[in-house]
Amino acid sequence: MMVAVKHWMFALAVLGTVTTDAVARDAKEGEALARRLCAHCHMLPGQGEKQKAGDVPSFAAVAARPGQSYETIVRWLQSRPTMMPDHHLSQDESYALAAYILSLAPR
Ligand code: HEC
Repeated sequence: MMVAVKHWMFALAVLGTVTTDAVARDAKEGEALARRLCAHCHMLPGQGEKQKAGDVPSFAAVAARPGQSYETIVRWLQSRPTMMPDHHLSQDESYALAAYILSLAPR
């Protein structure tokens, strides 16, 4: 049993490239930011089924859009869309939020 667990952890360590580690860390930061800045408009997973005000898409729906990508989301956030408050996001915050939103995409 212990041996199997160790092998599994070793495999994870080998597969976990620097990039996926960074994205996972970003996604965590992004989630914290999203809860603080975005959740009163956009529904996050685990908030129940109630749709929020107006036609604001849930982040899961944003992630599931055909052709959605990291770059598209970052560009959207950096473009300061008029229907959203200007959160003065830094580039790092935009990356983190994009990583979080994309982590909600159906696989
Ligand atoms: C005041 C409400 C409000 C807040 C706060 C808000 N948004 Fe939005 N957001 C909207 C609305 C409305 C749309 C839909 C725009 C449309 O599709 O016409 C939208 C759309 C988006 C989209 C989808 C773009 C697309 O069509 O692919 C992303 C990504 C997004 N918001 C990210 C965020 C993030 C990240 C935050 C927090 C930093 C945030 N929003 C905060 C109202 C809000």
